[in-house]
Amino acid sequence: MTARLLDGAALAQRIRAEVAERAAQLARQGTPPGLAVLLVGDDPASAVYVKHKVKDCEESGLRSVLQRLPADTTEADLLARIRALNADPAIHGILVQLPLPPHLDAQRVIETISPLKDVDGFHVASAGALMTGQRGFVPCTPLGVMRLLAHAGVDLAGAEAVVVGRSNIVGKPQAMLLLQASATVTICHSRTRDLAAHCRRADVLVVAAGRARMITGDMIKPGAVVIDVGMNRIPDGPQAGRLCGDVDFDSALAVAGAITPVPGGVGPMTRAMLLVNTLEAATRAAAR
Ligand code: GUN
Repeated sequence: MTARLLDGAALAQRIRAEVAERAAQLARQGTPPGLAVLLVGDDPASAVYVKHKVKDCEESGLRSVLQRLPADTTEADLLARIRALNADPAIHGILVQLPLPPHLDAQRVIETISPLKDVDGFHVASAGALMTGQRGFVPCTPLGVMRLLAHAGVDLAGAEAVVVGRSNIVGKPQAMLLLQASATVTICHSRTRDLAAHCRRADVLVVAAGRARMITGDMIKPGAVVIDVGMNRIPDGPQAGRLCGDVDFDSALAVAGAITPVPGGVGPMTRAMLLVNTLEAATRAAAR
């Protein structure tokens, strides 16, 4: 048997089309959704991510404003720019691309973004809202994973869900969302004893550990749903430079019931959720 592929690229495309429709509707009602993206410095990976975000906005009819700032931008300057965007009624979402140059305090920068415009969901108020079941913004990757699971018809109530990774951006919010969906949630991390035993209990396994191919088929329960958040470049060998996940796809495919490919699984969903969050921010602003 071989696992069903969960096609995030196809679902993301449908979501983008829905976003485009609703964005056009909002624009006709006088609130064209607007996203501001701030890129500080010249990290090449960040430049690529930001380019994708701006392109996604264009294709879905969202207005995007990109501010490229030099690596030596002062914190005072960056915070002033964020405050100006907070006050700008044409901007509904603000995203500061991470990582920031080391002289900038990323947490202070994020906390300066208005929680009403925090479409990344990284603000402490957004994290608190998620934790307590209040309205806020949910980080794009775990939100995209939930949409993918819902679309695949995965029943989470009472399911054993295991999240590998405890980052603020993926692991922790992912665990909260799975809990909200009434799964029984275990969070594993680099210090977990017998990771394999935990993983093998999972009906739903979400891996966001940042280690290439660390989860192999023998660590997966037969029929489990496997969500691979990993994005790693293979450093050497015949496949050098290619993208691979945190799950060893070939061995997992034979055991899992369903699995996300890398690329084409979680990645496109993350990008689509930024559009969804921006649209939501504009919708809320229009209702105020
Ligand atoms: N850097 C890598 N991923 C992300 C993301 O989702 N948001 C921001 N702001 N920076 C990132």
